[in-house]
Amino acid sequence: MSDQEGIPELLHSLRSQAAQRGTSHYLDLPATPMKWVFEAGLPDPATFPIDDFARIAERVLREDADDGLQYGSGVSGSITYGWEGLRDVIAARTSASTGRAFGRREVMLTSGGVQALTATCRAFLDPGDSFAVEAPTWNAVLGAARVAGAEAVAIPLDDEGLRLDLLEAQLERLSAQGRPLKLLYTISTFHSPAGVCLSEPRRRRLVELAREWRFVILEDDVYGELRYDGEPLPSMLSMDTAGLVVRVESLSKTLAPALRIGWVTGHATALEALAIVRGDLGVSQWIARIAEAYLEEGLYEPHLAEVIALYRAKRDACVAALEKHCPDSLRFAKPDGGFFLWCDLDARYDGREVLKHALAAGVVCRPGEEFFGDPDQGRQWFRLSFVTPPLEEIEPGIAALGEAIRNSARA
Ligand SMILES: Cc1ncc(COP(=O)(O)O)c(C=O)c1O
Repeated sequence: MSDQEGIPELLHSLRSQAAQRGTSHYLDLPATPMKWVFEAGLPDPATFPIDDFARIAERVLREDADDGLQYGSGVSGSITYGWEGLRDVIAARTSASTGRAFGRREVMLTSGGVQALTATCRAFLDPGDSFAVEAPTWNAVLGAARVAGAEAVAIPLDDEGLRLDLLEAQLERLSAQGRPLKLLYTISTFHSPAGVCLSEPRRRRLVELAREWRFVILEDDVYGELRYDGEPLPSMLSMDTAGLVVRVESLSKTLAPALRIGWVTGHATALEALAIVRGDLGVSQWIARIAEAYLEEGLYEPHLAEVIALYRAKRDACVAALEKHCPDSLRFAKPDGGFFLWCDLDARYDGREVLKHALAAGVVCRPGEEFFGDPDQGRQWFRLSFVTPPLEEIEPGIAALGEAIRNSARA
């Protein structure tokens, strides 16, 4: 059909219209497999709990197939919001960790955290609205805001997270222009790509600012449980008494991305807005029951402890290898958790050039400009995911990257 007259042109023009609104999540990488993948936020497959999943998946099929293989019940909201059993377990865990009472109407399951983020953008942003993001930030959210027609306002980070002094200046400016801030997106714990955490005083102040200026905080906490050092920080969900915080979590980073089990916790009315726009028929009832059983059998905590021990060792190996094999001008901060090292080269380097040389050597990392929504920013940076390669491959991979960096220096 595509060779009929005019059809290819039509499809190309539809594609370029879509490209103006959205953004691709992935780099256009060569088809040949890379030897060392430090590129995306992919968990180490060696951590996937295959035997437990196989056993529980079969049990759900044998004992609960009538409901487990259905859409869910239209009456109780289990289609759009997801299986109540898992929502109840999540609500109880969230109530315990935040010290605030959450029930099933305050939890909605989503197809990974990403659907919670895009549905929130779709629900709360209209064309011309102001939407604040950190600079740098996770690029999928920039695409969602663009699709909604909102204008992203980038607020720089420092080592305590979002710069609230700069946010306050923007709040004044936007309000004076008659387009007050509506939604703010923050990856508050173990930021991607920057690895930093929003400090506790800033969390408290940000929640106050949301109340003062009446905007919603979209708190992305998909990496929050992966802490290798230091004490946990309270979620802004635990500080918010006004219903202005919606928090996004996921089992992707700790358990397995292919479950596609994420969720959003927040005020019931905020979640109703998401339910109206999400535009699908909920997450898999079967997988949600598997996740529920995994949590209820007490398997999650010991699994998480193993994952944390492994990823801590990988972070340390990556830091040691960067110090040993990369030019002295390379700067990075050792993160207390999460997946990423955010590396800054000096002005002699360009992240795209580094990537080109790295690819030729079989190493892939992500150039910094991907995280700013502006091709002129972030060019001296690149992001490394230290969790994906096997532990013993980290040093050789970073040695090859160090060589690629040296080869890409401008004369
Ligand atoms: C910052 C951030 N938020 C959310 C997600 C969403 O992950 P998922 O949809 O698999 O839960 C990712 C995945 O890479 C991420 O890096």
